[in-house]
Amino acid sequence: MNASPLKILIHGASGRMGKALLRLAAEDSALEVVAAVVGRSPAQRVIDGVPYFAASELAGVPAFDVAIDFSLPNGFSPILALSVQRGAPLVSGTTGLDDAQRIALTDAAQAIPLVWASNFSLGVAVLTDLVERAAGTLPGWDCDIVESHHVHKQDAPSGTALTLGEAATSSGAQPRFASLRAGDIVGEHLVQFTGLGERIELVHRASNRDIFARGALHAAKRLLGKPPASYRVRDLIG
Ligand SMILES: NC(=O)c1ccc[n+]([C@@H]2O[C@H](COP(=O)([O-])OP(=O)(O)OC[C@H]3O[C@@H](n4cnc5c(N)ncnc54)[C@H](OP(=O)(O)O)[C@@H]3O)[C@@H](O)[C@H]2O)c1
Repeated sequence: MNASPLKILIHGASGRMGKALLRLAAEDSALEVVAAVVGRSPAQRVIDGVPYFAASELAGVPAFDVAIDFSLPNGFSPILALSVQRGAPLVSGTTGLDDAQRIALTDAAQAIPLVWASNFSLGVAVLTDLVERAAGTLPGWDCDIVESHHVHKQDAPSGTALTLGEAATSSGAQPRFASLRAGDIVGEHLVQFTGLGERIELVHRASNRDIFARGALHAAKRLLGKPPASYRVRDLIG
């Protein structure tokens, strides 16, 4: 007999990431979307069998096993609070969080299992490791991080650029950041180490945002049943 599907809530369901999550979840019989939450009042109450809710109706959503949040910073605090209140794990990829939200995330990890990541792709997890190693091996080299995204992206530098910067800083580099907003670029990150007469360029290019959605759905499955803590994507791979 098949186990019952994992009941998920998708927060930010009408966005670019939300739509990718809904499409991929619909193709996976191990998942059932029980609530799709959007910022403004939804135009339709049920789409493809999925019930929609406005952010203002969050308190009334049905029971769920895991919440997946790809919204905007002003939507993050309510879904974090609801996840803690319902005792449900949270997967969040929302970037541009402020210091108070980061502290709230750390506090919530004492109550529920959660993963917040600026990037859910496997390639960026590997790039982060490479940056840490390169920065530690090349003391005194300049370190520059250039990120490029579509024109609708609101925060800059990107959350991924900041995560890569933290990896470089932890190994002694002092990264500088530059951001480009152009066309429909899904996401590119270049980490450049420059010495005298030589240069290393480490680049990750995302051509399809399904990589982030797949990573988040995978993390949601792996988070269920884990003890309360803050997990990294690399803890949940495999
Ligand atoms: N970690 C990763 O791997 C990764 C990858 C890609 C993107 N991201 C991040 O994911 C987030 C979403 O990206 P996106 O490109 O999908 O953005 P988007 O297209 O602008 O979509 C934002 C979504 O959030 C909803 N929303 C806005 N305010 C809300 C609120 N107060 N409460 C609940 N929902 C609210 C919007 O609903 P309405 O349409 O009704 O306003 C919409 O569904 C961004 O922070 C982005 O940087 C992370």
